[in-house]
Amino acid sequence: MPRTSLTVDGVRYDEEVEPRLLLVHLLRDRLGRTGTPVGCDTSNCGACTVLLDGVSVKSCSVLAVQADGSDVVTVEGLAEGTEWHPMQRAFHEEHALQCGYCTPGMIMAAIDLLRDDPDPSEEAVRAGLEGNLCRCTGYTNIVRAVRRGAREMSRPDGERETAGPSATPGPGAARQETEGQVRTP
Ligand code: FES
Ligand code: FES
Repeated sequence: MPRTSLTVDGVRYDEEVEPRLLLVHLLRDRLGRTGTPVGCDTSNCGACTVLLDGVSVKSCSVLAVQADGSDVVTVEGLAEGTEWHPMQRAFHEEHALQCGYCTPGMIMAAIDLLRDDPDPSEEAVRAGLEGNLCRCTGYTNIVRAVRRGAREMSRPDGERETAGPSATPGPGAARQETEGQVRTP
């Protein structure tokens, strides 16, 4: 069986994998990153989005063997200790989630969007996140959150907001016990 060596959230793994294994299943079922959900199995919803070498990808559309040698960041790798990532905090502050199922993918796609456009307009956010679907919120608060997160990320570390629960996982990092069940922070 082929092997894949990759770094996930700063931890190195070397795994024997079936050639057909999807990256999302490697992350969830073998490496315990259940904060990355599966929402559709048809590459449409974007819930499974992670950063692969800094670029957002739908991890249900990537084979685990294709991630060999890569650096993967999931929503669970964003916080620094007990300090949420600014984009997680922005989703919390703007109430940009209801069930939270889409939130990990939204946050990861938003972070990627800011690489090319650090201060996106509302239109740019909507266009940039068009591959990520939300069945609950109507998107308005998500757009606000992404723009707030962008402003925060452009500020020096010491000047960023620090409000918000500090000892709980940030929005989107909720652990899922089983498919479809989300335990909120
Ligand atoms: S589960 Fe990957 S796009 Fe929906
Ligand atoms: S908050 Fe429920 S799908 Fe987006």
